Amino acid sequence: MLQGKKIVLGITGSIAAYKACLIIRQLIKKGAEVQVVITPAGKEFVTPITLSALTSKPVISEFFSQRDGTWHSHVDLGLWADAMLIAPATASTIGKMANGVADNMLITTYLSMKAPVFVAPAMDLDMYAHPSTQKNLQILQSYGNLIIEPGTGFLASKLEGKGRMEEPENIVTQLEQFFAEKEATGTAEGCALSPKDSMKGKKVLITAGPTYEKIDPVRFIGNYSSGKMGFSLAHECAIRGAEVELVCGPVSETMQVNHPNIHRTNVESAREMHEACLNLYPQMDSAILCAAVADYAPEKTAPQKMKRTGDDMVICLKPNPDIAASLGQMKKDGQTLIGFALETDNEESNAQSKLKKKNFDFIVLNSLRDKGAGFKTDTNKITIITENKKTEYPLKPKSEVAGDIVDKLESLF
Ligand code: CTP
Repeated sequence: MLQGKKIVLGITGSIAAYKACLIIRQLIKKGAEVQVVITPAGKEFVTPITLSALTSKPVISEFFSQRDGTWHSHVDLGLWADAMLIAPATASTIGKMANGVADNMLITTYLSMKAPVFVAPAMDLDMYAHPSTQKNLQILQSYGNLIIEPGTGFLASKLEGKGRMEEPENIVTQLEQFFAEKEATGTAEGCALSPKDSMKGKKVLITAGPTYEKIDPVRFIGNYSSGKMGFSLAHECAIRGAEVELVCGPVSETMQVNHPNIHRTNVESAREMHEACLNLYPQMDSAILCAAVADYAPEKTAPQKMKRTGDDMVICLKPNPDIAASLGQMKKDGQTLIGFALETDNEESNAQSKLKKKNFDFIVLNSLRDKGAGFKTDTNKITIITENKKTEYPLKPKSEVAGDIVDKLESLF
């Protein structure tokens, strides 16, 4: 129930604006009080008369009331609300929210908002998938706003079917869950949806992505790692207040970090990653080694493009440094070290032996035999293994898996 809850509902210019009427009906049915703030474009899709009839309150869209010229105070609205919900949220409004472009009443209200903000994007898939929109959504998430989307409701999940606004009843359910959790814990803290500062003052090194080992100027030995798991971990630590050093192999340009607590160093080869990590680890409280580091590199990199010959070609490979083992040897009291193991067979015993060999505090195991786990997927299914305990987790989006891993890391501090 949402008895007595005060909700500011922001409506923007999307075809899904008519669904805002259904949201209002359900919020009111559950006992909430709703104040609509609508953008000029929103009014093209749903009329203020309908909205004020549903909410029993005048709809706010201008800075001044057209009837008597009184000022609509966005500051007061920011203090009045228990939550702000922007549904539907267009790419334009999301961009303005991310960048503080306060040219309408809805954005000024958002910038003055003291309560948690929920955002339900609504646009076509191309607009949604554009790096600009994705970046802006990540910025909003880094501000602690909750993005409500169909399916898993998280940014890192598959794009198919995305962009479409989440169904009104699911949006209302998310709000209900939020208030239920908040009341259960007595504060917004402990609620999975709110930003925390439980890792404030901690410094975490995270490696992510593949490494490329050069054969010649145009070829390399690499692997399928996308970097998504490492980026999700970096984001999770950052929103909990940690300072993150993200050492990142060559990943797609769409993989961006937008949180002020994340400092990114780009490297290409295992040797470069090794060097960056050796320099950083002594200042860290913890390191999470998520990168898929190539175990071998060509003995020589050809200075010119290698030409095709009629014969077989042999490339001699030499072992790369093991970053995890090096950090495991350097590890001091009070420091922790977390590793990953992606296995195809004998999963648990392989993970156990890596845990010992590399001096990890725990190791995150995923098996390529599990559907939806491993490289290139947006989901992962993990088992966390310590010296004497094994905990299995269900298949989840990588963003949520990151939450489980960071919870475990925090329990070691
Ligand atoms: N790792 C690393 N440096 C390397 C190789 C691996 O830091 N050169 C880290 C990975 O980031 C991961 C853990 O070690 O956290 C295990 O990686 P994996 O490739 O499974 O380990 P290997 O020792 O290379 O074992 P395998 O023989 O199975 O490849």
